[in-house]
This record gives sequence, structure tokens and C-alpha cells, in this order.
Amino acid sequence: MKPREVVKLDTAINEVLEDFMYRIDEICDHNGQMEDIYSEFNKWSFESICLVLYGKRFGLLQQDVEEESLNFIKAVKTMMATFGMMMVTPVELHKGLNTKVWQAHTKAWDDIFKTAKHSIDSRLQKHSADPQGDFLCDIYSGGQLSRKELYAAIAELQIAGVETTANSLLWALYNLSRNPYVQQKLFQEIQRVLGAQQSPSAESLRSMPYLKACLKESMRLTPSVPFTTRTIDTEMVLGNYMLPKGTVLMINSHALGCSEDYFRGWAEFRPERWLHRGSIHPFSHVPFGIGRRMCVGRRLAELQLHLALCWVSAPKRELGGLSSREHGHSPARSLWAQQAQPSQGIFLGKQ
Ligand code: HEM
Repeated sequence: MKPREVVKLDTAINEVLEDFMYRIDEICDHNGQMEDIYSEFNKWSFESICLVLYGKRFGLLQQDVEEESLNFIKAVKTMMATFGMMMVTPVELHKGLNTKVWQAHTKAWDDIFKTAKHSIDSRLQKHSADPQGDFLCDIYSGGQLSRKELYAAIAELQIAGVETTANSLLWALYNLSRNPYVQQKLFQEIQRVLGAQQSPSAESLRSMPYLKACLKESMRLTPSVPFTTRTIDTEMVLGNYMLPKGTVLMINSHALGCSEDYFRGWAEFRPERWLHRGSIHPFSHVPFGIGRRMCVGRRLAELQLHLALCWVSAPKRELGGLSSREHGHSPARSLWAQQAQPSQGIFLGKQ
């Protein structure tokens, strides 16, 4: 996604964020806590990416959610959960034996494509007179993708962008909640740049280096995608190792982020380390992967997360968290979808 196209999406992203903030205030109890924060964050990222890709709202942040939207999000969840199971047992086995997992997985994909197809068709039809004026029509009118390929590409974008973005926001708020000094500095930057302005924009983010550093630092310490893999297509020598064709290589970005060699005092959440140009090895921080297959949604994800941090960390809102040391256990727990999430609550109340 081209940076100059992505910045134009700030209004749509803000529209969803405004609803998200209302929703948080609605469902937080008087202690500033909510039951299932991760699921609420997933609803936000789902609603946001759908507005960008399909140009329509699915109403997930409303009290009463429509049947079609619920089925869609249920299908995505089933697809992810069954995909997780097929990562630890051979896919061919599931397919050959037509297991329940396989049946649920393929049905979930059918349901996802049905909704995606319907939404894409109506968007193409709506903008048929001026295809260049719409991001999705523009891609299609370029003639490089067939209609079927377009459905597949857009559905993939949508699925890749939901949990990753929600998880990154959750960890960013968690890290901020445990570091009041950082939170205070962030408040000050947001206040200085936005002043009395109601909502942030792609333009205002250009003057917020500390906010961007906070996200980078959070993705270093607690990445939502901790590793990426590549299968090499030719024999090669890497370091002292001779690797045959077909070897699966793994880049463990989480381990890189926790390396004392690359990040002095790695366990500290210190956004300041990102503010000195050239002080960090460019390949030591790769939360969006690297090379030809790196994340295509990176710019969009960053815009969504930067704007979300502005909204959620507005000076009137206090983010509080319990220190893991106080509770004597690890600050993360695993989820069914192979993503870790904080094991303790985050206080999202207003001061
Ligand atoms: C904070 C949020 C996100 C994170 C941390 C993230 C991370 C990643 C990572 C690590 C990869 C693998 C890259 C590699 O193998 O080198 C990837 C691939 C991908 N991501 Fe993201 N992503 C995020 C958000 C998004 C969003 C919002 C979209 C869609 C708009 C998206 C679409 C994709 C797609 C389509 C691929 C596959 C690219 C390919 O195989 O060529 N991602 N992402």
C-alpha cells in the first residue's frame, strides 16, 4: 500500500475510533475495567479494516450487532482457530480424513468469501463511473487482477489485519500502563500537537516522534508476530552452515528485540532509544517482516495504531496497570490463535 494513499484513510480510521471510544466508556465498569478487552479491540480493528477495504460499516461497535456481521466475525474466528490446529498436525491428514477441523475450516473460508464477495461487488458497482476515485476500484481497473483474484487478495488483507493490529494496540497500552513516566511524556506530546483540536490526523502525527517511538518500543518488547519463516529455494551457505534446498528458516524477531547486543537494557520500556537516528541496527527490529514478502499492510497498521494511541491516551484518560512483580507471575499468557496477550487487566478509566 502506497504511503500517499494510506494517509488519506485517516478520516475513515478516526470515524471508527470515535465509536470505539464511546463503546469503551459504555462498557467499562465504574473501576474503569471491562470484561473482555481483547475481543473489544478485535471488534475495533475488524470494523476499521472493513471500512477501509469494503467502504462499509459492519456495526460491530454498536449494542445490537447485525446477523451478517456476527456470522462474518464468527467465520474469521473459526478459520483462525482451526488454522491453529492444522499448524500442529499435517493439513493433508485433515483433508484426507475430512476431519471436523477440516470441514469447519473450509466452511469458514466459504462464509468469509461470500461476505467479502458481496461487499466487493457492491463497492465496484457503486464506483463504476469513476474507478480511479476509489482505492479498491483503482486496483481492479488496473487490469492486473481477475475478479476472483481480487476477492482472494482483499479477503487475505482483511484477515491479516485484524488480530495483529488489535494485539499490538493491547500490548502498547499495557506497556504504557506500566510506565507512568512514558505515559506522561506521551500525554504532553499529544496535548502540544493537538491543542484544542478534537481528533488527530495523518498530518498531526508527523509532529509526534515520541508517540511513534512508543509504538516501536512496544513492538520490540512485545511483538504481535514474534517470528517469520522462509523456505529456501536453493542450497546455500549461511554463516558456518550449509543449508539444503527446502530448509525452513525462522527469523525470531522477539529474540532480536530482547537481545542485549542490539538493545542495551533490553528489558526496559524506553521509547527514547528510538529518537536518536542511526543508533539502532536496522535489521534488529523487524516486526513487519523483511524483504519481498514483508507485511503489505504495514503503513495502514501503523496509521491505525498511531491514531488509536492518540485517542486512547488522550490527557483525560488514565492508563493504569498492575505490575507483574507485584503479582509474581509472567505478564503474558497464550491465546488459542498463537498470540500472547497480557495476563493482567489494563485500567482504561477517565481521571
Ligand atoms: C500491527 C499490525 C501488523 C503486524 C505486526 C503485521 C506483521 C506481519 C508479518 C510479520 C508478516 C510476515 C512478513 C514476512 O514474512 O516477512 C505479515 C504479512 C502480511 N501482512 Fe501484516 N501485519 C500487521 C498488519 C497488517 C494489516 C493491517 C494488513 C492488511 C491491510 C496486513 C496484511 C498482510 C499480508 C497480506 C501479509 C502477507 C504478505 C505476503 O505474504 O506477501 N498486515 N504481516
